[in-house]
Amino acid sequence: MKVLILGSGGREHALAWAVARSKKVTEVVCAPGNGGIAEVARCVPVNLKDLEAMVRLVESEQPGLTIVGPELPLSLGIVDALQQRGLRVFGPTGAAAMLESSKGFAKQFLQRHNIPTGNFAVCSSAAELEKAIDLFHPPIVVKADGLAAGKGVIICTSRATAVEAGQGLFTGKLLGEKTQQVVIEEFLEGDEISFLCLSDGKHIVPLVPAQDHKRIGEGDTGPNTGGMGVYSTDQMLEPSMTEWIMHHIAEPTIRGMADEGTPFAGVLYCGLMMTARGPQVLEFNARFGDPETQALLMRLDSDLVEALDACVDGRLAETELRWTPGASACVVASSAGYPGSYKTGLPITGLAAAAQVPGVQIFHSGSVLAGSEIQTAGGRVLGVTAVAGTLKEALARAYQAIAEIHFEGMYFRRDIGHRGLSK
Ligand code: AMP
Ligand code: GLY
Repeated sequence: MKVLILGSGGREHALAWAVARSKKVTEVVCAPGNGGIAEVARCVPVNLKDLEAMVRLVESEQPGLTIVGPELPLSLGIVDALQQRGLRVFGPTGAAAMLESSKGFAKQFLQRHNIPTGNFAVCSSAAELEKAIDLFHPPIVVKADGLAAGKGVIICTSRATAVEAGQGLFTGKLLGEKTQQVVIEEFLEGDEISFLCLSDGKHIVPLVPAQDHKRIGEGDTGPNTGGMGVYSTDQMLEPSMTEWIMHHIAEPTIRGMADEGTPFAGVLYCGLMMTARGPQVLEFNARFGDPETQALLMRLDSDLVEALDACVDGRLAETELRWTPGASACVVASSAGYPGSYKTGLPITGLAAAAQVPGVQIFHSGSVLAGSEIQTAGGRVLGVTAVAGTLKEALARAYQAIAEIHFEGMYFRRDIGHRGLSK
C-alpha cells in the first residue's frame, strides 16, 4: 500500500520512518516533507494552508491511506474533503478537530461532560473579560480561542496584566490577528503529561505517556516553544493512574464527541496537569504531538500502519499496541534566536556520525536538502532521539549523538528528562 503523509516537521519524519517499516507499505510519500524525510519518503511540494491544493495532490497520488500530521489542515477540514471523495484518511473531521482548534469549545465540552479541568470563562469582548477576570486569583491564564502555534497562552501575575493580555488578543496586537474569543483559566500546578490515544470514534487505545519540555531555557525558564525535548518511560504513570485517566478523561471525551454527533477518530492528545486534586485537562490536541511522536514511535514495536488502518476502518477494538519496555528521549536542536527570529540556510554537519550511536534516530524538523548539503530551515531543526533500557541510558545516547552534530548557533537544552531522572 502507498501511504501519503501531510506535514513537514519532526513528527512527520518520525511518522514516515515508522510507516516505511510497515510490512503493508510499498511506498511512502510526504507532502511537503523536509531534508531528512527525503531519505525515507518521496517528497512532493504542497501548501498546508491550501485545502484545495492538498485535495488535488491526494486525488492525483491515490494513496491507500493519508495521514494528516499538523493541526491546520485538520481544522480546514482536509479529512472531510478526502472522505467525501472516497479517500481513506487518518485524522478527525473539522468538527471533531474543534477540540483543538477552539479552546472555548474544548473547555465547554469538558464542562458539559464533567471531565476534570480547571475553572474558566469564555469571553467575547473586552468588557466581558474585565468582568470575568474578577472571579480569578492571579496567576491568571489568558488564552486565544483559536490555533496559535503555542503562542496564544499568556500566564499573568496580576489582574492588570491579564486585562492587558486579553485586550492584546482582541485587538490583534499580540498575535497579529484579532481573536474572536478569549478564554481565561485558573492556573494549574503540577507535572505536565502528554497522554495520547488512538481512537476510531468509539474505541480507544492509549499510547505510552510522555513529558514535553515547552520552555526554551533549562530549568523550564524563558518563553514557550513548540517543545524542546520529550521523554517517555514506563514509570511515568502507575497502571492505576493510566486506568483512571482512561476512565475519567479519554473515554468520556470520545463518548461525548460521539454523543454530540461529531465522533472523534484519530489521535486524541490529552495535555494533562497532574495536580494535587488529580489529573486535569489543560488542553486537547487533535493530532500526534511534536516532539512526542519522535520519542513514542521509537518505543512502538507493533505496526503503526496496521493500527492507523484499524482506526480508519472502525476496528480498533481488535488492535493491540506493543511497546519496547524501558525509555526513549528526544532532544531538540534549535536555531539561535528561536522561538524569536533566527537565520536559516546554515549547513548541518555530523549527522552520519551521530546516527552511528546505538539506539539513535535523528528526525529532522526544519531542514532542507540543498544539492548534497543538509541546511537549517526552521526554528526547531533536529530531534535527536534515542531508545534504551533506562531513561538515563536513553538520554546518554541522545546527548552523545547530539555532540557529533554542528550548525552555527545550534542550541539544545541539557536537562531533558530531569523530572524523570529525579523520580
Ligand atoms: P496550551 O497551548 O493550552 O497547551 O498551553 C501551553 C502551555 O501553557 C501548556 O503546556 C502549559 O505548560 C501552560 N498552561 C496552559 N494552561 C495552563 C493552566 N491553566 N495552568 C497552568 N499552565 C497552563
Ligand atoms: N509538543 C506539544 C504539541 O505537540 O502540541
